[in-house]
Amino acid sequence: MKILPVKTKSKHYNIYIGYNVISQLNKIINKEKIKFKKALLVVDRKIPKYFIKRIKSKINSEKKLIYFFNASERNKNILNVNLILEFLLKNNFTRNDVIICLGGGIVGDISGFAASIYKRGLKFINIPSTLLSQVDSSIGGKTGVNSRLGKNLIGSFYQPDIVISDTMLLNSLPKREIICGYAEILKHSLIKSKKFFLFLDKNLKKILKLEKKIIEKAILESCKIKKQIVEKDEREKNIRKSLNLGHTFGHAYEATLNYSKKLNHGEAVLYGIYSSINLSKRLKTISNKDYQLISSHLAKLHFDDLNKFFNKKDLNKILSFMVTDKKNTSKKINFITLKKIGVVNINNQLNTDYVKKFINLFLLN
Ligand SMILES: NC(=O)c1ccc[n+]([C@@H]2O[C@H](COP(=O)([O-])OP(=O)(O)OC[C@H]3O[C@@H](n4cnc5c(N)ncnc54)[C@H](O)[C@@H]3O)[C@@H](O)[C@H]2O)c1
Repeated sequence: MKILPVKTKSKHYNIYIGYNVISQLNKIINKEKIKFKKALLVVDRKIPKYFIKRIKSKINSEKKLIYFFNASERNKNILNVNLILEFLLKNNFTRNDVIICLGGGIVGDISGFAASIYKRGLKFINIPSTLLSQVDSSIGGKTGVNSRLGKNLIGSFYQPDIVISDTMLLNSLPKREIICGYAEILKHSLIKSKKFFLFLDKNLKKILKLEKKIIEKAILESCKIKKQIVEKDEREKNIRKSLNLGHTFGHAYEATLNYSKKLNHGEAVLYGIYSSINLSKRLKTISNKDYQLISSHLAKLHFDDLNKFFNKKDLNKILSFMVTDKKNTSKKINFITLKKIGVVNINNQLNTDYVKKFINLFLLN
């Protein structure tokens, strides 16, 4: 088991990473001196019953309640936050009690948000159950919900008291969800560490097969990169923007397909990374050697051809989503590009005509 401390301005907390960490949950909570009388477990309905039972048995509190949640982007909304808040109120939870999340990024975002506003904040323990949530969404304190007008537009920054990333939970995840989490691991390596990228390239198959030691290392290294960035810039004023590598393209791709099952978030991010490195090549910011290394990695994953999903008729729709992305402040669109593997450029304001031409000529043909 590895312990990774995260030290942000608003809170210091530890991430525990390893296989079967949940068997020590009660000991960890004691060691961390997290005290509460009542616990509400907000649980993703797809988590195998066996785990729920085991986790429940490892929580020592006077009262333990379970709130099941159907994880979907549609359900990640303010109405469901309100239902969780009312459940807490009806059961007289105080600020000294705890919400324990057992689920992926959706359950983490919604229950973390509920924890942040219930009586102005109660304790929050996150037990992320997807690869994406273990390497990305459980670190950094962004919580929130979708609005009819866009994804993740309502929310707060609220750091957890601890994060327990148990790789055993990943065994029941569908393969597509593993790829989804892998997209963020790859992104972290490209932003910060060529050494880590080369490790991923060498061990890709083992990672996707969840080989114990290798997946643990991939998660740990990925968390280290995200935590370093978040520690420096908790509120995304500057360097945290680098975590958006591939996301300006990726968000536009998933929105253009109406967030359908055809392309899920992580897959859109992989296509976004593919698009960003091609943009970096056009802008001549990346060396040919690094470009080839990333391209061949994406080809191994089969994420190197956008024509499977889009054609030239989609161009205006894709662009319109890029312009309305909350990260863009004017008619210009900002992209994160690569200077080399491990080094990004966070300010590339490009005008829409340029972007349109680029997608038209170099991504869709
Ligand atoms: N807060 C942040 O910083 C941050 C960062 C990245 C993404 N996000 C958010 O995270 C969400 C995506 O998270 P995700 O990829 O974890 O998706 P998710 O929460 O939708 O989970 C993916 C699927 O796996 C199922 N599932 C979860 N755990 C399982 C398990 N152990 N076994 C079997 N099935 C399981 C879920 O029911 C769901 O169907 C998005 O809403 C995104 O906006 C937040």
